[in-house]
Amino acid sequence: MTPASKSTAIVTGAARGIGLAIARRFLAQGWRVALVDIDAQTLGSIRGEMETPDTLIIEADVSDPAQVARAVSETEAHFGRIDALVNNAGIAIFKPVLETSYEDWSRVLAVNLTGPFLTVQAAAPVMMKSGGGAVVNIGSISGQRASTLRVAYGTSKAGLAHLTKQQAAELAEIGIRVNCVAPGPVDTAMAKAVHSAEIRADYHDAIPLNRYGTEEEIAEVVVFLCSPKASYLTGQTIGVDGGFDASGIGLPTLRATTRPDDRESDT
Ligand code: NAI
Repeated sequence: MTPASKSTAIVTGAARGIGLAIARRFLAQGWRVALVDIDAQTLGSIRGEMETPDTLIIEADVSDPAQVARAVSETEAHFGRIDALVNNAGIAIFKPVLETSYEDWSRVLAVNLTGPFLTVQAAAPVMMKSGGGAVVNIGSISGQRASTLRVAYGTSKAGLAHLTKQQAAELAEIGIRVNCVAPGPVDTAMAKAVHSAEIRADYHDAIPLNRYGTEEEIAEVVVFLCSPKASYLTGQTIGVDGGFDASGIGLPTLRATTRPDDRESDT
């Protein structure tokens, strides 16, 4: 593939965590990547490793229309095209319903839901110029099943799953597929900040695969969804969650009764 024809992705929230893993995966697959993040300090810490001819590092807040427009036009000016947009930037504020302030609610909705609305509006016209492309919105299992402390976060991610369908329904017409990846728990800085020891144990209890996912496991699915291999896939939310969304009660009891020791004594 010549440099001029290389596919280009924008990944938001790419300074660390899942976003950085997605950027790395795209690069490994021969894509060029614009890494967008609000956090200048963390962006600075990855410059040494991530600044190459195939990357562009942009400081921008996805909830600000002017900054989003600038990030998209800088990417188009630098690389000449945009083929994929991954709306990964997100924030989590975990508080009870009655303690979530107007400011908490508004900021979570602004970043997690308004951000992907703005970035798609800005990037889709550029994607159209080269025949379309793919958008992946990063949702969460917290948008699929309600839980405590997630009134703002869970609602923003549920909204994002529906925004995905709205965007998919309209943008198919101009060759853009839109899907949502809903990760289960992944041990990033965000998870470390909001998952107490008790919440971690609860997650293990509720996940058939009985572990947290890795950043790379999420990135793999995102890059697949942006590839031609997913050419008939749009409007979907894909849980990459170790089976969390598929299952209900009973896993701890099952595990307690099917420990290897018990199985051996049964045979
Ligand atoms: P993280 O906190 O490690 O990374 C998020 C990145 O987004 C940070 O670099 C941050 O500076 C950036 N960001 C925050 N607000 C921004 C804004 N307004 N504009 C631009 N960039 C902004 O989080 P993590 O864990 O990597 O999460 C990535 C995505 O995955 C988020 O959307 C999160 O909600 C979602 N997710 C994470 C899960 C987890 O267990 N870690 C589980 C399910 C979903």
